[in-house]
Amino acid sequence: MNLMRILSGIQPSGKLHLGNYFGMMKPALELQQKGDAFLFIANYHALTTVTDPVLLRKMTHEVALDFLACGLDTARTCFFRQSDVPEVQELAWLLSCVTPMGLLERCHSYKDKTAKGVAPNHALFAYPVLMAADILLYRSTLVPVGKDQKQHLEVARDIAIKFNLQYGDVFIVPEPWIQQDVAVVPGIDGQKMSKSYQNTIELFATEKETRKRIMVIVTDSTPLEAPKNPDACNVFALYKLFATSEQCMAMRVQYEAGGMGYGTAKKALFELFWETFASFRKRRQELECDPAFVESVLRQGAGRARQEAVKTLKIARHAVGLE
Ligand code: ADP
Ligand code: TRP
Repeated sequence: MNLMRILSGIQPSGKLHLGNYFGMMKPALELQQKGDAFLFIANYHALTTVTDPVLLRKMTHEVALDFLACGLDTARTCFFRQSDVPEVQELAWLLSCVTPMGLLERCHSYKDKTAKGVAPNHALFAYPVLMAADILLYRSTLVPVGKDQKQHLEVARDIAIKFNLQYGDVFIVPEPWIQQDVAVVPGIDGQKMSKSYQNTIELFATEKETRKRIMVIVTDSTPLEAPKNPDACNVFALYKLFATSEQCMAMRVQYEAGGMGYGTAKKALFELFWETFASFRKRRQELECDPAFVESVLRQGAGRARQEAVKTLKIARHAVGLE
């Protein structure tokens, strides 16, 4: 039987936040029990925006700690740094040669990033081609990502289809996997949570910092006594991510009854947050003291990933006439 090949990556370009966790990491980690999982740290991609080498190295290590602390199963999952498998760059070139400019010109992530002041370099524009190479190199069937990455997956699918039409059945066309109920996690200001909006709640900040962030979540000015609409409240939207259905229901009743201030809801959110991630925090502290272990996991992962990569690249090189 063919196992499902699950693949996802995350850029080491900022501290892990609730949007990353619920949008990508948690679904990816849950899927690791259901198939053959490949998870990687997209450090080539991060080079499009991170220009300080010391910082890139540091953040790459931090993402490794995050994944391992949050439950990455090293016995099952192949976990590696993108740049430890340089074959992906050659495949990106082969894919570039079948990628119409128009396909990339339509991508909003390039437009969004340059609108925010990121220098419009070629790599930022070609970013989705390298992402397609990540996906196709490992013959992935299922790619768990947050909603904002959906367009990139569509590009990967289009590129795979186009390549296959031109050169025969070389690549598997992957499926996106987006959890509908947590499609977009809101930030403390109600916009999409994103490091570029400075509205994040980090998973591994100190207790004091976390409490402070939660207490400044933007709410409306409904007075304490008045009934409140939970479905229009950022605090409730975040609370729902952690709470059981009973806890959600109880909180909803309190909102609708009136007499509960937003401060109380924020405290409840903080308590639940802190408790939910307690074991991850402990594990992360242990891992911080053992960088050699983390490095050995990544090296082993790269070895296995590379075996797969070499096989696919050989087929692709032959298909286009390089071999
Ligand atoms: P950021 O927006 O902070 O720069 P990234 O673009 O690095 O985050 O996203 C890394 C992963 O986390 C992607 O799979 C993305 O879809 C997911 N993700 C990021 N922010 C959110 C969010 N607010 N809600 C859901 N998923 C998110
Ligand atoms: N672009 C993704 C992000 O910013 C990271 C990424 C790179 C990725 N290559 C990938 C995700 C392949 C899934 C599959 O979050």
